Amino acid sequence: MTQAEAQPQEFSLFDNPAIAENPYPVFATMRASSPVVRMGPLGLWAVSRYDDVLGILRNHETFSSEVSADVLAGEPARPSMIFNDPPVHTRLRGLISKAFTPRMIELQRPAVQAYCERLVGTLCASSEADLVAGLAYPLPVMVIANMLGVGDGDLATFKRWSDAIIENIGTALFVGDDGRMDEINAEFDAYFRARLDKLRRKPEDNLLSGLVHAESEEGRLSEDDLLVICRLLLVAGNETTTGLIVNSVRVFSEFPHVVSELRARPDFIPFAIEEVLRYYAPFAATFRRATRDAEVAGVTIPRDDRVLVLLASANRDERQFERPDEFIIERQPNRHVSFGMGIHFCLGAPLARMEAEVALRTLLPRITAVRIAADTESAALLRPGGPKALHVHLSLVDDPSALN
Ligand code: HEM
Repeated sequence: MTQAEAQPQEFSLFDNPAIAENPYPVFATMRASSPVVRMGPLGLWAVSRYDDVLGILRNHETFSSEVSADVLAGEPARPSMIFNDPPVHTRLRGLISKAFTPRMIELQRPAVQAYCERLVGTLCASSEADLVAGLAYPLPVMVIANMLGVGDGDLATFKRWSDAIIENIGTALFVGDDGRMDEINAEFDAYFRARLDKLRRKPEDNLLSGLVHAESEEGRLSEDDLLVICRLLLVAGNETTTGLIVNSVRVFSEFPHVVSELRARPDFIPFAIEEVLRYYAPFAATFRRATRDAEVAGVTIPRDDRVLVLLASANRDERQFERPDEFIIERQPNRHVSFGMGIHFCLGAPLARMEAEVALRTLLPRITAVRIAADTESAALLRPGGPKALHVHLSLVDDPSALN
C-alpha cells in the first residue's frame, strides 16, 4: 500500500484544547505514522518531519509563499516580503537586509539594555508578576518602535496598531480583507507617511531612516514599499520575540537546574537560547502553497493546496536530534528551523537573539528560581507570542551584584 493510500482520513490541529496545551505528543504520532496528512476538506495539509519541512522551505518554486486568499482568487499577491516569491521578494529583501546589518543590530544594544533594566527592575519588585505584561510583550514593541523612530509618546498608539494587525492577520490572509482594518490602516499610513517625509528631509540614526536612504541596483524603496515594511516589522518582530522570552522562562520553570547552571555559566546563555528556540518554537508553523502537484514523502499534494509546515515538530524530530524531548543547554549541533530556512530565513534572527540574550543576562542575576503559577492561562504553544498573560513566582536574589 502506498503512503497516499495510507493517509488517515481527516485530522485537525485546531480547536482542540489538548493540542493547544501540548501539541508535541501529537506531532510525535504524526511523524511516526502520518508525516504528510490532510487536514480537513479545505485543501490544507500538514508536514511534520524535519527533512520534509526543510525540503519544502528550500524549494520556493514548488512551494510558494503566495498563500493568501487573493492569490487563490487569481489576483496578484499584495506586496509583502514574507508572503511573496521572487522577484518581488528578492527586491524587497535586497533593500531591507541593508538595514539589518550587524551594525544596525548593535546600534540597538544600549537601548535594549536600558529597556531590560527598567522592565526587569519593575518585574522583580515583587515575587509575583505577569511576565508577558512586565517584560516579554513590551520589550520587542519598544525595540521595533525605536527602530522605526516612534517616540515614547506614541508608544500606546503603536501598541494598539500592533495588536490589531496581529489579531486580524489570519482573517486578512486566508479569508480576505473584511474591512475591519481600514481605520487602523488609514491611521497607520498617515502616521508613517508623515514620519517618512520627515526622515527624507532629515536622516536619523535608526533602521527606518536607513531604509529611506538605502539604495541598490534595484533602486530605492517606494513609499508604499516602506509602509509595507513598517507593517511587516510590527507583525514579524513582536509576538515571535515575546514568545521566545516567554518560552525561556517556561523552560526555567520546567527545568530548574537550567537557572542555576546559567547563573553559574552566563556564557552558556546564547546556547540555551538556541535550545529554547528548538524546544519550544515561538512560530510553530508557516504556510506554503503548492504551485504544481508535488510529492512529499510519497504523498501527492495537489496544485494550489496549502501546506502547514510544522517547524515545531521538525525541531523535535528524532531522525535529526538525539534525545529530542530533553532540554540540553549546550546541544551541538543545533540545527533547529525556528527561524525558517531558504530564501525567507528570518531577517530579524540576530535581533531576536540579541534581545533574548540581554533580557536573560539582566533577569538571571536577580532570580534563583522561577515557577509558573498554577492559575495561569494555558500554554498556548501554537499561538505566536504564546499566552496573553503568564503569572510567575520569582525567587528573588537579595543582592544581584553578588553574582560572579
Ligand atoms: C524569536 C523571534 C522570531 C522568530 C521565531 C521568527 C521566525 C521567523 C520565521 C519562521 C520566518 C520565516 C517564515 C517563512 O518562511 O514563511 C521569519 C521571517 C521573517 N522575520 Fe522573523 N522571527 C523572529 C523575530 C523577528 C524579528 C525581531 C524581526 C524584525 C524586527 C523579524 C523579521 C522577519 C522578516 C522581515 C521575515 C521575512 C523574511 C523574508 O520573507 O525573506 N523576525 N521569521
